[in-house]
Amino acid sequence: MNASAIPAPILELTPRVHAAVLAGVGDRAPTTMRIPNANYTDPQIAAAELRTTFSAPLLVTPSGAVREPGSFLTLDLMGTPVIVSRGGDGRVRVLVNACRHRGATVAEGSGCTRRFTCPYHGWSYDSDGSLVGIPDRRKGFDNLDPAARGLVELPSEERNGFVWAVRDPHGVIHVHRQLGPLDAELARWDYEHHDVVATMEMKVEANWKCALEAFQETYHFPYVHAQSLVGHGTVANIVTFDQFGRHHRLGVPLKMLGAEPEPLPGENLTCIYYIHPCSVIATSPLGGELLQFYPGPSPASSTIRHTVLSRFPLADDEVAAFFKDYTPQIQAVVRDEDAVVLERSGKGIVAGYSDVVLGRNEIGCQAAHRQILADLADAHPSEKETAAQRTLTSTTSG
Ligand code: FES
Ligand SMILES: [Fe+2]
Repeated sequence: MNASAIPAPILELTPRVHAAVLAGVGDRAPTTMRIPNANYTDPQIAAAELRTTFSAPLLVTPSGAVREPGSFLTLDLMGTPVIVSRGGDGRVRVLVNACRHRGATVAEGSGCTRRFTCPYHGWSYDSDGSLVGIPDRRKGFDNLDPAARGLVELPSEERNGFVWAVRDPHGVIHVHRQLGPLDAELARWDYEHHDVVATMEMKVEANWKCALEAFQETYHFPYVHAQSLVGHGTVANIVTFDQFGRHHRLGVPLKMLGAEPEPLPGENLTCIYYIHPCSVIATSPLGGELLQFYPGPSPASSTIRHTVLSRFPLADDEVAAFFKDYTPQIQAVVRDEDAVVLERSGKGIVAGYSDVVLGRNEIGCQAAHRQILADLADAHPSEKETAAQRTLTSTTSG
């Protein structure tokens, strides 16, 4: 395991993050920000977010999860079951996991296959989604053109080591345009070659933005993570902040950066990226965590997908041994520490007695909310009045 090549963003951020540790304060927002709790609970705002924020290209999965031709995984993209499948031609496609006969899902879990065969009447599809077999076709479907009944494909693109897709099958996708200045930044991390260690998915009783907030500040670390590796390893409540178009990056000091006069050489900080609309990458010296936050069926519910990534090949025994020990610990942090408090946060917000206030130190939470509100403001004028204006008014009134 050779961890000597320090990623460029870490090298670049080290002096700033170190200076913030010495000063005892990092980058902060100009003022506090108040969010009406309707932004977490109102079905109309939730529906408007689906039409606006969630029409953007979504980060679906790391490329490393479907590296070989024929490899696939299935997941639920806000109620749409999808298959991410790398065809024999090497191209990744995002296919709606619904048989073109009577809708049954044709794949489950993940694996490697040349064919998806529907469990209901045996229709079969190639890994590129084309319909290649209809049992007893001459008895029942002799007038059907199989070429027109392949699995529905969502527009997708593989870029910077991730698969991205839009939810509208008739939509267009330009990931570089969506990423803007973050495109070049992500390219510096070499995610194409990261291995996927494990993915955990959980449903939580809290709005998806509550879940996102929990991964955009380190203010909660001494209270929520005092007993675990996250709390032990991080200097809490000090971050640097950089905006990259719709996205941003937080620099989070690790304890080893400490209060030494000079930063110790090495990877002594974590970058936390917010990738609009609903993804976060938290880097670590050996890889990182990808977090995806999806709205659930009600505004007060969401799904968190948590994926552990390794920068080094898992085929290396030393790397595999490290992750065997580390992965359950980091999954426990998210499941038993973060998810527990964010459900408590969701419960109080749903009760509706108080709005939410985000501190100057919670600059990452504020920036993500601003972007999501800007999406709404760009949309229909009535949506602008309901959500965005209310929030901006409450922000300026302190
Ligand atoms: S629903 Fe798939 S073959 Fe009938
Ligand atoms: Fe946390």
